[in-house]
Amino acid sequence: MKAAVLNEIPGSLRIEDVSIDAPGPREVLVRTVAAGLCHSDLHFMEGTYTTAVPAVLGHESAGVVEAVGSMVDYVGPGDHVITCLAAFCGHCEDCLGGHPARCQRKGADLVRRPGEPSRLSRGDEALHQFLHCSSFAEQLLVHEHALVKIRPDMPLEKAALVGCGVTTGLGAIFRTARVDPGSDVVVIGCGGIGLSAVQGARIAGANRIIAVDMHTSKLELAQSLGATDVVNASSEDPVAAVKELTGGGARFTFEAVGLKQTAEQAFRMLRAGGQATVIGLIPIGTMVEVHGVELTNEKTLAGSNMGSTRFRTDMPRYVDMYLDGRLNLDEMISGTMALEDINDGFARLKTGIVARQLITFG
Ligand SMILES: NC(=O)c1ccc[n+]([C@@H]2O[C@H](COP(=O)([O-])OP(=O)(O)OC[C@H]3O[C@@H](n4cnc5c(N)ncnc54)[C@H](O)[C@@H]3O)[C@@H](O)[C@H]2O)c1
Ligand SMILES: [Zn+2]
Ligand SMILES: [Zn+2]
Repeated sequence: MKAAVLNEIPGSLRIEDVSIDAPGPREVLVRTVAAGLCHSDLHFMEGTYTTAVPAVLGHESAGVVEAVGSMVDYVGPGDHVITCLAAFCGHCEDCLGGHPARCQRKGADLVRRPGEPSRLSRGDEALHQFLHCSSFAEQLLVHEHALVKIRPDMPLEKAALVGCGVTTGLGAIFRTARVDPGSDVVVIGCGGIGLSAVQGARIAGANRIIAVDMHTSKLELAQSLGATDVVNASSEDPVAAVKELTGGGARFTFEAVGLKQTAEQAFRMLRAGGQATVIGLIPIGTMVEVHGVELTNEKTLAGSNMGSTRFRTDMPRYVDMYLDGRLNLDEMISGTMALEDINDGFARLKTGIVARQLITFG
């Protein structure tokens, strides 16, 4: 099958012929229908984060089950599924405590054992499976705990977005911060994650939803998805603008860029008792600093991993929200492309001008 392989870091992706194994116990083989380009893939390509290479990248996808291995009764051939990197072991303290996105055992329990053939390979060489998914490929072979079954009337291209961006943004609002109706929300960064957070704030009944970005086109998109106010950070100081708009500071702020500067802005925009939630991946080794005295005002600096999702519960709910019209996914898709054009897609993502782009498999 064709797959996009990262051979070195930093590096771009190369389309290669890759072998995928037959499903073993508790594994599911999926025909990929669509896969989204997330900025997290780009972080690994650029080396702000690292992974074992060679690896098949991609982690936001949906498709149709082709075959299942032994002991799988959750799905069967023909079922529609969304994959998720927040795979869960199901028996650790975090999983059993209701926080499966924090599961620390997935790296040990959901992968093949040493000595077993690799799920993905190139000739005799094993290829690393990226974030339990490796979505930039015509097929996926994943542990059954890395996917969720969804209703068959959900268009799979739209469902792919739910695999990371939508769940991360909505989950940060609903699960990590638990935004309550009537509160003021700020979202810094209007890519796939930030636009999803804007929509989550709208669905949660936030009062003011202030979107911050560097590009007017992204701010217009944020407005069409629920932002009540916008701040262009290329021409205004976002902290001063938010303080002015909110009369002193916001109750909830969300950083969806991945920079020290924007994470610190998210904290400085808070009113007393406010919470800043950092979703963006800050480069490894970078410190985020806050004035200690501000903690006395009961401000919180929090992080969110995949929107603290319980994805087997959350993703089908988000699918329902799309199908009943509450969640808009169509406008979040800036374009679709073939796997061969993936590096052009990442070049566009880097400019900040596009929202979500999808690879579709014919
Ligand atoms: N925590 C998690 O579980 C998780 C999950 C998925 C993605 N992420 C991270 O979230 C971040 C956003 O991902 P994405 O795919 O939406 O990215 P993206 O590139 O699509 O969007 C980023 C947006 O931020 C804007 N921006 C850049 N610099 C800015 C600044 N100084 N001020 C305001 N806006 C600015 C860009 O114009 C762009 O619209 C990335 O760091 C990604 O790795 C985290
Ligand atoms: Zn992602
Ligand atoms: Zn676990």
